[in-house]
Amino acid sequence: MPRTLDPELRRALAARIRYYNEMGIFDFYRRPRSAGAEEVSISVDEAEAVVSTSTVSTNQTESGEEMSPRKAATVAMPVAIEEDIFEVIALKPEQSVSDPVKALKMIREDLGDCTRCVLHKQGRKQIVFGVGNPKAELMFVGEGPGADEDAQGEPFVGRAGQLLNNMIKAMGIEREQVYIANIVKCRPPGNRTPEREECATCSPFLMRQIAVIKPKVVVALGAVAAKTLLAMSASMMQLRGRFYDFRPAGIRSNDPNWDGCKLAVTYHPAFLLRDPRQKGEAWKDLQMVMKELGMKAPRSNT
Ligand code: URA
Repeated sequence: MPRTLDPELRRALAARIRYYNEMGIFDFYRRPRSAGAEEVSISVDEAEAVVSTSTVSTNQTESGEEMSPRKAATVAMPVAIEEDIFEVIALKPEQSVSDPVKALKMIREDLGDCTRCVLHKQGRKQIVFGVGNPKAELMFVGEGPGADEDAQGEPFVGRAGQLLNNMIKAMGIEREQVYIANIVKCRPPGNRTPEREECATCSPFLMRQIAVIKPKVVVALGAVAAKTLLAMSASMMQLRGRFYDFRPAGIRSNDPNWDGCKLAVTYHPAFLLRDPRQKGEAWKDLQMVMKELGMKAPRSNT
């Protein structure tokens, strides 16, 4: 008779899978079940606690066949588990949907009236999900909503947003052509920097948005966005000026042809408002992005 996983064990398993996912490991193979091993099961509700991963193959040996060691891992489970445990915990609802508008709607519904972190009780008026073209080739990711964004429910609509609009225009495109979102979807009180914990709790939803939109380039605006997306800590000087290969952590696109995208880091528009001398540097970053996307700036900028 299968029994339900002990909650502690389930939590540990979820944490372990999340850890592997963050390192880019999605495929897990299980040692063949030995005679007399205990059986356990996991319910659909338990999926919530675990980030995505892919199907388990039950008949593999530890060698992992052709998988590269970075992408596949054999995990020694403390007890033998039901056949479909990883399938149950793997799939996000939107991954079975090909229409990105519908898929984004499903992520929004999953987010609900979110109370997952403390920001929900620190004066937010509404959740600021993200806005723009659901098939955008270019995505901008900021830090978190400010007062204007909180009031209007849309990212980058205040002063920093005006500057971002100008930056987008300077690239020869319109705001409506790109997708804009933030690391956290609720306004931190007094526009403080979001805490690590808040970023970690909220960013999986952004990762899912990115996996649905499948952009060619993501531009991280400022250090919080850059560090959260890249899961690394470095100064803006170290982070800017190059592309990173980026795959949304813990999630896979439902499109097998989309294997991640490029990520560039530039200054946050709010920083550029405080120090306009850095605008030239930001323009260099955007030119690098334009080149990658095969875009030409309108004449007045060149
Ligand atoms: N700053 C951000 O990081 N995001 C917004 O949406 C607005 C200001």
